[in-house]
Amino acid sequence: MPVSREIHLVARPTGLPREDQFTVVEVAVGDAADGEVLVQNLYMSVDPVMRFQLNGMAPLNETLRGAAIGRIVQSKSPAFAVGDIVSHYLGFREYFRSDGEGLTRVSTPEGLPLTVHLNALGMTGFTAYGGLLRIGQLKPGEQVFVSAAAGAVGSVASQVARLKGCRVIGSTGSPEKAAWLRDVARLDAAINYRETRIGEAVRDAAPEGLDVYFDNVGGDHLEAALACMNLLGRIPVCGMISGYNGADVAVRTLSAIVQRRVMLRGFNLMDFQDLREPFEREMTGWLRSGDLRSEETVLQGIGQAPAALIGLFEGRNLGKMLVRLG
Ligand SMILES: NC(=O)c1ccc[n+]([C@@H]2O[C@H](COP(=O)([O-])OP(=O)(O)OC[C@H]3O[C@@H](n4cnc5c(N)ncnc54)[C@H](OP(=O)(O)O)[C@@H]3O)[C@@H](O)[C@H]2O)c1
Repeated sequence: MPVSREIHLVARPTGLPREDQFTVVEVAVGDAADGEVLVQNLYMSVDPVMRFQLNGMAPLNETLRGAAIGRIVQSKSPAFAVGDIVSHYLGFREYFRSDGEGLTRVSTPEGLPLTVHLNALGMTGFTAYGGLLRIGQLKPGEQVFVSAAAGAVGSVASQVARLKGCRVIGSTGSPEKAAWLRDVARLDAAINYRETRIGEAVRDAAPEGLDVYFDNVGGDHLEAALACMNLLGRIPVCGMISGYNGADVAVRTLSAIVQRRVMLRGFNLMDFQDLREPFEREMTGWLRSGDLRSEETVLQGIGQAPAALIGLFEGRNLGKMLVRLG
């Protein structure tokens, strides 16, 4: 009978979460009963949005939820066979039993790693693709700025913009990640916002102004981008991570929205489900040809999950932050 270790929240954080606000708990899972499967998680996705769960949605002393992929290791369900790979939102644990609800069988295109389902070919990549193309209405030849451009969504969004024929500026918080943006992602300009003033840096890097700003950060990055937006520019707001731990992230350039008739819109992937087929086709092609890199930072073992989550707010990841289990 498998024993599963899982992550519980034991105290609600204010500000940046601390590792002592989480704990690892061992539970006996039991074998699959009739109609059930037993899933062994292989990789867990660690996402900034989980910070909101910690404020109240996630009950204390229960398993945290999160996206993951796992393998069916026992099946008493006609819907799944042992060895099937499934994606789901029941992560932050090593094993669990399920009646199949919420499990989606995935097949990995030949030549690509399993983790691509949590990265460029999964929700991360789809968010970047649809946010940029549908919400941002991206057109070839445009001037694009992506913040947190070396992170999971940002690294895909910035490379998609480059592949669609745009001039792309990316911002990040370390010299190593700025070098990755220039040398590997092949962006036209990379800004390290910790070494320079973001407002001046965006202005200098965008002499022709910005047509699209893909916002992952909010606050000072949004303020800087708004100051440079061209007439009828678009700002797909993917996230505003600079404010997730309660920092004051006031934006003083909002009047640009009216003056330059800028469209600013938040979104999630439910807004463009019709793009799934072209997304999967184009993304698979770019990944196979090597035109787009699905970068990842992998920590080993469930005990690393709290550090991985906290690390997102400290910029410890290049590409997608994952925890490998087993
Ligand atoms: N709308 C949606 O459906 C959706 C879906 C997924 C994600 N999101 C949002 O998209 C954004 C990126 O998510 P992700 O999963 O791709 O995470 P990520 O970018 O892989 O990780 C977060 C990154 O944000 C940067 N960061 C953290 N605090 C910052 C701050 N105060 N100022 C500037 N940069 C900061 C760090 O990179 P640096 O080292 O470069 O600072 C860090 O690596 C988040 O805002 C998230 O909430 C939205």
